[in-house]
Amino acid sequence: MNFKGASILSIDQFEKVDVEHIFSLAAIMESYAERKKRTRVLEGAVLGNLFFEPSTRSRISFEIAFQRLGGAVTTMAERATTSMVKGESLEDTVRILGGYADLLVIRHPQEGALKRCAQATPCPIINSGDGAGEHPTQALLDLYTILKECKRTFHQLDGISITMVGDLKHSRTAHSLVKLLSLLKNIRFNFISAEALRIPRELLEELLSRGHSAYETTDLVQGLRRADVLYMTRLQEERFATPQEAEQYRGAYCLKREIYEKGVGSRFVPILHPLPRDHRFGVCEIDQDLNEHAALAIFRQAQNGIPLRMALFALILDVATSLRAF
Ligand code: CP
Repeated sequence: MNFKGASILSIDQFEKVDVEHIFSLAAIMESYAERKKRTRVLEGAVLGNLFFEPSTRSRISFEIAFQRLGGAVTTMAERATTSMVKGESLEDTVRILGGYADLLVIRHPQEGALKRCAQATPCPIINSGDGAGEHPTQALLDLYTILKECKRTFHQLDGISITMVGDLKHSRTAHSLVKLLSLLKNIRFNFISAEALRIPRELLEELLSRGHSAYETTDLVQGLRRADVLYMTRLQEERFATPQEAEQYRGAYCLKREIYEKGVGSRFVPILHPLPRDHRFGVCEIDQDLNEHAALAIFRQAQNGIPLRMALFALILDVATSLRAF
């Protein structure tokens, strides 16, 4: 794809070669992200960050990634502080802000809202989560993490087995990651969830039509035995009609050290989670007793968000070549 001036709304936009291009630039960005090297390639550029849903990692890592490249950032994290409370539409808001900034990053609770945003302005937009739809940059950093974590066990990711656990119906990061992994060859997907929270059927059909295999179960240990990589997800209770409806699934899948070791044995199976993990009583998808385990990749995964997002900014704003020249 041509990244220059492009919006990133869905993994559907990518071919494998595009992902490889992003990852090779993300690897270069790592020393800039760690401030071993410095650059001002985005000096004078402004990022508009619009978050209509809570966020810690995405919002702040997008901000820091842009700033590490020398750009400036303005953030709106509270709808209540905007003129939308006076009745202004999402489209008008985005059209105005797209006229102010060089690039917008938007998170919105409604699936499909980002498509509407992209139609409202020529300014490039990055989807940072649209309801239960997609979160493409999270999936990119997830796959980038899988690649780095699995280097010690696999030469390539084609043919690996990934076990995805939890609320697969509502997890936008899981949806984007399934699409992204589907660009590879012979991926073996193991989906572990309650019946009512299974991965959407259209995604399942799509991956099968691309020659991958899928296995669905409600049994965590069985899923662990089949895993080369483990991807835990949070119960997305904000997507349920009522808190009571979500309550019945609360704490259904809690990965403790004992369960993990019983399932994977002595193998190194990296544990990923897009985060946040829910620490409230009776929930925790990944127990604290795994906090110091070498396979727990969640903090390394979150860290990878910075170079990965720097790479995307550099490609969209067409400064990657100047950076490579440094
Ligand atoms: N992974 C992720 O999107 O986290 P935040 O909701 O904190 O941004």
